Order: sequence, then C-alpha cells, then structure tokens
Amino acid sequence: MIYMSVTIGTPLQASAFKVLLLGSGELGKEVVISLQRLGVEVHAADRYDHAPAMQVAHYSYTLNMADAEELKQLIEQVKPNLIIPEIEAIATQVLVDIEEQNIATVIPSAKAVNLTMNREGIRRLAAEELGLPTSAYRFADSIESFRAACDDIGYPNFVKPVMSSSGKGQSRVKSFDEVDAAWEYAQTGGRVNQGKVIVESQIDFDFEITLLTVRAKNAETGEIETQYCDPIGHRQDAGDYVESWQPQAMTAAALEESKRIAHKVTAALGGCGIFGVELFVKGDKVWFSEVSPRPHDTGLVTLASQFQSEFELHARAILGLPVNTTRHSVAASAVIYAGVDDRNLSFSGLNLALSHPDTDLRLFGKPEGFKRRRMGVATARAETTDQARELALHTATQVSVQQN
Ligand SMILES: Nc1ncnc2c1ncn2[C@@H]1O[C@H](COP(=O)(O)OP(=O)(O)OP(=O)(O)O)[C@@H](O)[C@H]1O
Ligand SMILES: [Mg+2]
Repeated sequence: MIYMSVTIGTPLQASAFKVLLLGSGELGKEVVISLQRLGVEVHAADRYDHAPAMQVAHYSYTLNMADAEELKQLIEQVKPNLIIPEIEAIATQVLVDIEEQNIATVIPSAKAVNLTMNREGIRRLAAEELGLPTSAYRFADSIESFRAACDDIGYPNFVKPVMSSSGKGQSRVKSFDEVDAAWEYAQTGGRVNQGKVIVESQIDFDFEITLLTVRAKNAETGEIETQYCDPIGHRQDAGDYVESWQPQAMTAAALEESKRIAHKVTAALGGCGIFGVELFVKGDKVWFSEVSPRPHDTGLVTLASQFQSEFELHARAILGLPVNTTRHSVAASAVIYAGVDDRNLSFSGLNLALSHPDTDLRLFGKPEGFKRRRMGVATARAETTDQARELALHTATQVSVQQN
C-alpha cells in the first residue's frame, strides 16, 4: 500500500521544492550536491561570502544567522519548504516559531536543533530524562561555582563552554592548579559570551565512535524507521577530528548498547534525517557523549565506504525518501589542514596524492585558510581499517598547501 507520493518540482520554476541551508560549510556542500541531484532548489546561507556550500547552491546569502531579525527576514524572502541548520550558532528561537506556525519544516526538528546547540540541553535530556549512561557532570556559571564543580567531579576532567563546538574553549583539567586558567580559556572560546560551562568526569574509554543514525520514512507505510551505519572510529586532536575509519571493530554487546542509546536519543529529538551519535566505548560498556542532528565530520569517510554517503542519506531522509545504510568497503578519511593563515591558497601534489586507485580527495574551496582550518579531506579504501588509515593519511600528506 502506497501511503503518500513524495513529489519534487523543478528548480528555479514555480513548482520548485526549496531547501534553505543555514551554514554552508563542507558538510553542507555535500548535502547540497546530494539535493541538487534530486532536483531540489537550494538556497545556502552563511556569515561570509563564497562558503563551500554556497558554491554549489542555486542562491546564496551572507548574513548573521544568530540575529533573529536577519534570519526571519531571510526565511520570509526564500519561503523554503525545508530549513536545514548546518551549524549551531543560529537564532534557534526563530526556528521554533517557524515550526510552530507551520511556515517550514525544520530539519530534523526545532526541538532537536534547540536542544543540541547547548550542551546543557542535550546532556540533561540524555542523562536525566532518558537515563542514558554519560560521564558525571556539573554546570557552572561563575569562577566560584566552577571551582566547586571541578572539586566535585575530580581530576582529570573536561571543561567545555556549553555553547561551543570543535573543541573551542575546551580543556582537560589535570589538577586544581589548572582550574582558574581553564575558566579563563572557556570564557574566550564560547560562541556566545554566556559564561556557562560543563565540567565532565574523564571517561577512560578504549575507543570512541560516531554511530550515524538515520530516521527515515518507510516507503510503503510512511512510518519513521531508525537505521544505523556501521560504527565509525575516529581520532581527535584538541577536540577536532583528524582521521576516521569505518567499521570500528567492537563487541556485539557494545554495538547493541550503542544502537539502544542512539535509538533513544534520536527518537527523543524527533524528525527525519541523519544524526551523528558520539559514544565512548570500553569493552561492552558504552557512554553517550553528544549528538549532532546532521551529518558528522567523522562521517566524511562514508563518501568512500557506503553506497549512500551520510550526505545522501540525509538528503533522502529529509525529503521523505527511503535510505540504504549498507557499507560496500572498508575505508578511512584523513583531514587536510591549511597549515597557514592566508587567503587564496593553492593545493599541489594532487596527482601524486591520487596515484593510488583506491583514494579520493575533497577540496572544500574555502576562500580563507587558518593553521588549523580544515580545507579538505582524503579518503581511501583498503582490506583492513589499518591499511585504509595508512593510505588516507599518506594521501592527505601528499597534498601541500601553497600561498600565492
Ligand atoms: N568526558 C570525557 N572523557 C573523555 N574524553 C572526552 C570527554 N569529553 C570529551 N572528550 C574528548 O574530547 C573530544 C571532543 O569532545 P566533544 O565532542 O564534547 O567536543 P566538541 O567541541 O563538541 O567537538 P566536536 O564539535 O568536534 O564534536 C571527544 O571526542 C573526546 O575525544
Ligand atoms: Mg564531539
């Protein structure tokens, strides 16, 4: 029984099915390419011109998306069917209102976007409402309460501004001596100078994974079903991912527990789309860390390992189309950094980098690089994850960044 037909019009015509992407980074760029292939009209926004996803969208807009008025105006102008927040620094109350008034569908849901933009929202949901295992944690919004929280949690611990991502303002505090410096650092690294931090006990994990979890409609029944990609292992450096691989070997019990946690947290967030559920694993034990209600950077490896990458899965799921999370290869990804602070960079050695037939590259086209800004990624397929990691790293290091 077919419950309802999914229909997409013609881009740039009156029948267009329109998507507005808020945040136009490298992950958004791949989502846009997937949407373009399905004939969707794409509008991409960011705070600076020529952001990666803008370069492949039909229309682009430069604005401050954290400004509620500017954001509202853009949405009124574009009149999108779907709004995809690709970053966390957005005036999320506007999205809550838009969803309430049925003006557009927020992906995956305004609730998910609102809760995950703030570490406090998602941590309290996961640990206190859903009862999922997490590190021990305290919140603090003054130096005094922060000192007390650190002593409560013990050392070493992790301190993170509640409104931050990619390791910004984050530190590992090894003893009481380091507490005041960690507070200062957190105050400068947060997205909004709101001052609040989370203090987390250190989890002594064997490895960490991203479990890409897709909520997509069944083609016949229209019911939302939850599907999982194979677990992705990754290595983080200063809170930023540097390499990832798929699959990450783990016990059957740990995989089962990972899926249970991912199912619970994504069901609570709701909507359709892909989620990057970050988990810590030790033996059979699994802890929930955090979740992105969108493609995850470590999931770039799926460009090489799956029939439908995380970006295609996301595009399909949000359009109400069925998905296939099957992996066809063992693969790995390795990040390419700018290594310099400059604009207008060139990338050389590409022919050598791609000399192995099982490798591939993405260069994001960012107009400006910083020492630790991700400018591209190398992927590689091999027999084992160790071989794939070695080949991806080798491929990435063959690319040299040049100033002009
Ligand atoms: N409580 C913890 N115990 C052990 N390691 C941790 C803990 N919290 C964070 N880490 C380490 O720091 C990394 C970054 O932490 P987290 O994912 O919370 O930060 P983030 O700023 O959201 O990073 P990203 O945006 O890149 O995901 C984790 O992937 C993990 O390696
Ligand atoms: Mg993280």
